[in-house]
Amino acid sequence: MAPEVIACEQQYDSSYDARCDVWSLGITAIELGDGDPPLFDMHPVKTLFKIPRNPPPTLLHPEKWCEEFNHFISQCLIKDFERRPSVTHLLDHPFIKGAHENVSFLQKQLAKVLGDQMHLNPIVKTRHERMHTGRPYHVKDAEKYCLDDDLVNLEVLDEETIIHQLQKRYMDLLIYTYVGDILIALNPFQNLSIYSPQFSRLYHGVKRASNPPHIFASADAAYQCMVTFSKDQCIVISGESGSGKTESAHLIVQHLTFLGKANNQTLREKILQVNSLVEAFGNACTAINDNSSRFGKYLEMMFTPTGAVMGARISEYLLEKSRVIKQAVGEKNFHIFYYIYAGLYHQKKLSEFRLPEENPPRYIADETGRVMHDIISKESYQRQFEAIQHCFKIIGFTDKEVHLVYRILAGILNIGNIEFAAISSQHQTDKSEVPNAEALENAASILCISPDELQEALTSHCVVARGETIVRANTVDRAADVRDAMSKALYGRLFSWIVNRINILLQPDKNICSAADGMNVGILDIFGFENFQRNSFEQLCINIANEQIQYYFNQHVFALEQMEYQNEGIDATPVEYEDNLPLLNMFLQKPLGLLALLDEESRFPQATDQTLVDKFEDNLRCKYFWRPKGVELCFGIQHYAGKVLYDASGVLEKNRDTLPADVVVVLRTSENKLLQQLFSIPLTKTGNLAQTRTRVTASSRSLPPHFSAGRAKVDTLEVIRHPEETTSMKRQTMASYFRYSLMELLSKMVIGQPHFVRCIKPNDNREALKFSRERVLAQLRSTGILETVSIRQQGYSHRILFEEFVKRYYYLAFRAHQTPLASKENCISILEKSRLDHWVLGKTKVFLKYYQVEQLNLLLREVIGRVVVLQAYTKGWLGARRYKRVREKREKGATVIQSAWRGYEARRKFKKISNRRSDSAVYIQAVLKGCIDHKSSPLAESSSGHAETSSNSAVAEKNRLSEAQSSLKECDVFRGHANKHSVSGTDSPSSQTCHAAPDHQGLRPLGATLKTGSENGLAQKQRTPRRRCQQPKMLSSPEDTMYYNQLNGTLEYQGSKRKPRKLGQIKVLDGEDEYYKALSPVDSVPEEDNSAHPFFLSSSSK
Ligand SMILES: Nc1ncnc2c1ncn2[C@@H]1O[C@H](COP(=O)(O)OP(=O)(O)OP(=O)(O)O)[C@@H](O)[C@H]1O
Ligand SMILES: [Mg+2]
Repeated sequence: MAPEVIACEQQYDSSYDARCDVWSLGITAIELGDGDPPLFDMHPVKTLFKIPRNPPPTLLHPEKWCEEFNHFISQCLIKDFERRPSVTHLLDHPFIKGAHENVSFLQKQLAKVLGDQMHLNPIVKTRHERMHTGRPYHVKDAEKYCLDDDLVNLEVLDEETIIHQLQKRYMDLLIYTYVGDILIALNPFQNLSIYSPQFSRLYHGVKRASNPPHIFASADAAYQCMVTFSKDQCIVISGESGSGKTESAHLIVQHLTFLGKANNQTLREKILQVNSLVEAFGNACTAINDNSSRFGKYLEMMFTPTGAVMGARISEYLLEKSRVIKQAVGEKNFHIFYYIYAGLYHQKKLSEFRLPEENPPRYIADETGRVMHDIISKESYQRQFEAIQHCFKIIGFTDKEVHLVYRILAGILNIGNIEFAAISSQHQTDKSEVPNAEALENAASILCISPDELQEALTSHCVVARGETIVRANTVDRAADVRDAMSKALYGRLFSWIVNRINILLQPDKNICSAADGMNVGILDIFGFENFQRNSFEQLCINIANEQIQYYFNQHVFALEQMEYQNEGIDATPVEYEDNLPLLNMFLQKPLGLLALLDEESRFPQATDQTLVDKFEDNLRCKYFWRPKGVELCFGIQHYAGKVLYDASGVLEKNRDTLPADVVVVLRTSENKLLQQLFSIPLTKTGNLAQTRTRVTASSRSLPPHFSAGRAKVDTLEVIRHPEETTSMKRQTMASYFRYSLMELLSKMVIGQPHFVRCIKPNDNREALKFSRERVLAQLRSTGILETVSIRQQGYSHRILFEEFVKRYYYLAFRAHQTPLASKENCISILEKSRLDHWVLGKTKVFLKYYQVEQLNLLLREVIGRVVVLQAYTKGWLGARRYKRVREKREKGATVIQSAWRGYEARRKFKKISNRRSDSAVYIQAVLKGCIDHKSSPLAESSSGHAETSSNSAVAEKNRLSEAQSSLKECDVFRGHANKHSVSGTDSPSSQTCHAAPDHQGLRPLGATLKTGSENGLAQKQRTPRRRCQQPKMLSSPEDTMYYNQLNGTLEYQGSKRKPRKLGQIKVLDGEDEYYKALSPVDSVPEEDNSAHPFFLSSSSK
């Protein structure tokens, strides 16, 4: 791969062009010449390190080749691709040009070389598709690289060899090395391109030895163990301050997020932002590290049983609150103060938050006086501010919450600016006042409290004596202490609130998996061991915490292992190690441990720092404690990591950490809801804000469970007050919080199976590629790495009960349905079947080397993998069969439904058509009758004087019929109508026009026909043809119905014996029909009667 292509993997602003192919051409030329490409025997990951750093590769024996060929290769392999020639340019190269002219000669030569090769080595290609050139493939070399990766493989195990090995690797930028299953990480102090997604993919469920050591490999090991054994894991990162613990923790979270790919991308993004947000509030620049963790952090990543990440939870311990009010020379306050100052400055919002533009607030001002200048000019601060805003948003904080957080931070900075002056009066000289009201008002206004109440809380305090409340004035010093205590409390509680809020926002969705079914990987990143020029109470706590972590390491790596050798009767050489338990007891035991003595002294109001040190000296009589001569208020401790001198001044006050009740009361009255909450929620035993139950808003309650569960939309600023929840005013000291914190942390860690990452700082100057042998050796010694190497080499780091072993691995030697007994013999069969050696069996346990467990797990995974494939195929086959059946059934069903539907539809259509036809027939009949009536009317009139006899009826009838037919012909509208119906049989609009009596105009002639009973009606009809655009009437209209009813009724009225035919009944009429016969002209309805009928009235009136 060309160097520019490798660079692009990490640096997104890098680019490359087609000239990377020219590089490949050069590499191919070498491969053709030498038979192998350069660095062929190196692990692919390592080549990615090497290519950018090494000079361009050349042929192994350039002197054996012509000058043109060497030059051609050197041109192809120019590392700077801007200077590298393109392919077009290379065509002019003498080496290529020369080849053009001698094609046939070259072909012959090539054929000869191939012939010789075939003759010498019939196998031209290996399984790696390398040209076989007689040079052996260095399998041994490849293995050697893996051997170098683990210090346990060293034959000589002395300090010198180990240091040499680490140094050699570090100079090759191989910063990670194994000691068995423990990872050593040397801080590179430069960005390496080994954390890209490409690397994440490499370290995904593979054998540890298949890739060089890496922090991703440790994360992967923890993840695989969690998934395989459904057991919680714990990654413990330890090392001095600045050794790279926090960076390692980030990388582990990054890789675990990659491994536990959940479908929920938002959750992944949230988890990745958590560290940055918490560290902005909890990290600061110290003399050792620009991004030093000032709190202990235990991040638990939660996974579903199938290994998908589903949430996260942070626990924070012992934030160094004192940094808010004061920082040592060369150090800074917590990052967030600078970030928001820069952000608000650039947003021109400083005045809104009552922050000065010229002079920095006292809490962030330093001795250089350049703070404001840096804040304004450094782009990084502003960038970080934007990043923090982004984090808040991604994690799910509302804008309102973020605004309130900023207000509290600005409030703290304003509080720091409140100054006090003594009021000198004749009688009282120890009273204090606030001479400059501006700072006080700014602070009060930004915190939404009354300035007067704030002033009163700062400058006086209440004492309850004998049932009476007495208000006492504070001295200037005491007022300043109260002010600082208030700032510390505000910051500490705000930090706790942010952590609690993050935990709520990242808690697993109960609909996906209940917390009880899930598993987690915990990542411990605490503040590293510190030894400054002046060490105070904070360093003491930090170093005791590190002492505890070292003890945990010793227990797991040495003590437990050696104890088990004894119990199980295993013959193993004991490894000596430095046990720090006595020192830990000196700190933690009661009643005479250092912390207990400190607490005791803090309870005496008259005690001073001097009496404290005296007390220590009197009670701590052991080799780990001493008091240097001639140095006041100082004591020394021999820690596991070296001697540290502590300055005891101010320790008592720091331990008391008192916050007067008057201040709490004032802050609780704030209109800032967040502030109110911070001082209403009780503190836990570890000194953090208790995780409160939040009020679920009405809107969230109405949400469906899958919306509300897990991520309930809650009004986070509303706290449900529980009757038992009160702010405990009971005195708690920092030492007691610390003690509980350690206990809680350990209780969390012991649940999980531990994985250790030991970070080492190669030099104190934070320089890349500088390896200080003394510093590294000191760290290796203090952390027990040297002993770890020997115990891992000789010992058995994994001890598994027979029962557990058989249960876990019986697949490897038995059939799946078998349930072998947890016996020694069965364990042996499994171990033998797995072809492992160097294992030992104790009385109840199998003792395995650290790498054997991995081998067994891989074998198990392989077997399970095969089972899964078989299951998948079977399930697939069953599924396909089921699907086929269901499909057939459905197809049949569809046919039945279709045929039923078609039948129904056809019947429906048929009914419709037949109805319409009947209607049409009735209509035609009606019209015909009407016509006949017209015709018969004159006859009736003319014969009114003469009685018609039955003898002339035949002739008359015939005439009448022929006349009726001719008059029907005249009525072309109706004729066309009937035809249409008989043809189409549909109810198209045109056919409707034919049925209907067109409208009133159209109806009138017909009505008139009936009314007058003369042929005037028809004549009138001809005179008044239907107007264009007149809407035809539906046959079934009420008028029509009435008409037919009327007609039927009339017939009845006329005394016809024949039953009137109902509307819709069809009868084909002919001249012989007795119906006609029954009709006589005298039967016609008298005009006046008809006209009196309501129908005609209404229709004519219309
Ligand atoms: N893997 C790494 N790659 C590049 N730089 C690193 C790496 N690890 C550490 N560093 C550098 O070292 C610095 C210190 O590292 P980090 O903050 O992780 O130390 P730490 O052990 O957490 O210290 P502390 O105990 O003070 O919190 C980082 O800011 C970074 O510049
Ligand atoms: Mg750190």
